[in-house]
Amino acid sequence: MIGILILAAIIAAVYLIFYVFYPLGRGAIFEPSSPEKTRLMAEIAGVSPSERTADLGSGDGRVVIALAQAGAEAHGYEVNPFLVLRARRSIRRAGLEGRAFIHWGSFWRADLSPFDLITVFQVGFIMGRLETKVKRELRSGARIVSHHWRFPALAPEIARNDIYLYRIG
Ligand SMILES: C[S@@+](CC[C@H](N)C(=O)[O-])C[C@H]1O[C@@H](n2cnc3c(N)ncnc32)[C@H](O)[C@@H]1O
Repeated sequence: MIGILILAAIIAAVYLIFYVFYPLGRGAIFEPSSPEKTRLMAEIAGVSPSERTADLGSGDGRVVIALAQAGAEAHGYEVNPFLVLRARRSIRRAGLEGRAFIHWGSFWRADLSPFDLITVFQVGFIMGRLETKVKRELRSGARIVSHHWRFPALAPEIARNDIYLYRIG
């Protein structure tokens, strides 16, 4: 009985550390985009096969997989190691190795300059800081698709069903 309680406490602690405390302050906790929103993000993104994309906080990898299936070279950055493993397993199962990649680490430390498209489903309090980062690092013409959250100063080119498309001028 004591053994079961200790095991349950360890599992709860690990869950809280990686799913709540670790992302907190850096970005959003894990809440996956619904299948409909994932499809809409990929549709609005309109990727072409030569493009490289990055999902900032890639969770279980569903947006990365959708963009790789649409033809892009799709990358994801994720701080939660359990989600990294889960996403990599889904990528293998979808047969997308070589087109989809998950990087374990904070997107704040990633260089976004090689990417044509950034996707993001994060949290309101980081959008100002993220706007500064994308304006500094992305080339002119690069796009950002945001689920739910808007940038404070950039105006969206498309706003449809809670998905926003921005273009760097
Ligand atoms: C709301 S979920 C979105 C997941 C996925 N992009 C989707 O749309 O289904 C946010 C994810 O961002 C991750 N995250 C939060 N801050 C992060 C950071 N600074 N760097 C990398 N991942 C982060 C969380 O662990 C979580 O998996």
